[in-house]
Amino acid sequence: MNIRNCKKSNCKSKNNDGNCLIPGSDGLPIQCVGPWVENKYFFLEKYLNASCEARRKFADKDNAVFIDLFAGPGKCIIRNEKREIDSGGIRALKRDEAPFNEYFYFDLCSSNTEALEKRISTTFNRKIKLGDSNVLINELVEILLRKPYRYHFTYIDPFGPDELKFNTLRELAKLNRMDMLIHFPIGAIKRNLKIWSNKRNTILDDFLGTDAWRNLIKGLPNNQIFKTIIDVFKAQLKSIDYPEEGLKLLASDKDIYAGLPTVPVKNSREVDLYVLILAAKHPLGQRIWNSIIKTTPDGQKNLF
Ligand SMILES: C[S@@+](CC[C@H](N)C(=O)[O-])C[C@H]1O[C@@H](n2cnc3c(N)ncnc32)[C@H](O)[C@@H]1O
Repeated sequence: MNIRNCKKSNCKSKNNDGNCLIPGSDGLPIQCVGPWVENKYFFLEKYLNASCEARRKFADKDNAVFIDLFAGPGKCIIRNEKREIDSGGIRALKRDEAPFNEYFYFDLCSSNTEALEKRISTTFNRKIKLGDSNVLINELVEILLRKPYRYHFTYIDPFGPDELKFNTLRELAKLNRMDMLIHFPIGAIKRNLKIWSNKRNTILDDFLGTDAWRNLIKGLPNNQIFKTIIDVFKAQLKSIDYPEEGLKLLASDKDIYAGLPTVPVKNSREVDLYVLILAAKHPLGQRIWNSIIKTTPDGQKNLF
């Protein structure tokens, strides 16, 4: 019998799908994650709950759309805890209040799209597509623009900056009512920054959609580098019509960006740095996010 050995990365399959070598309790692939992901889900669900009345106005008329660009197989297991939990995309599907009317899920790996198909086979109004989100986005936005009056929420949760190109966000931003919850992969950026600083046309240039960061970080002390990179990303989001007030961030560590609300991962020796960004064009979305990030998953008030 297989005994799950979810320690660090040695339990991961080598297919780049992020899945554990041992399937989940339903026999399907499952992603192996650190405990910090529960913070990400906490804020995703809190936003979806808190925005339900605003969404209902659209959902009642069949006009609320959910998009998950990096869907995964639909389930994760918390490393070392052997606890299986739903992915963000499945949580979005399980809304009692004002559920979305249409769901789009993309993933690059067939093991993930096939597992997701099976896990949500009873949901009729969902489309699961295999492929690179940075390519699939063009066709999707073309279709969605036929009904530009609808409300859209996109959950953007890549493993690293190599998976997302800024152009994809630019495409999404063509839709007027588009909220985006972005996991900004600061840990992966930190690990590779030195290599990218000395080259041109790197993964980070594509992710940020500009090479302006390279000159801006030259000579900066370490504690200002990540703030500068995140500020470049924010400036890019502003350039595609997301106002400053609609770009509030949350970080795992005050050293990443002093002054942001921080939600560190409790009881974990693994250092998983993360930044979550809610990009909303509408003042209501901005207000909702600003109010929910004041409370951390363990009920503490965030002082900022
Ligand atoms: C962090 S995991 C997703 C976790 C999931 N969103 C959740 O809430 O548990 C990132 C996923 O993105 C997929 N992926 C990587 N590059 C991709 C790309 N260019 N387009 C679509 N999916 C991609 C990987 O196969 C992996 O399943």
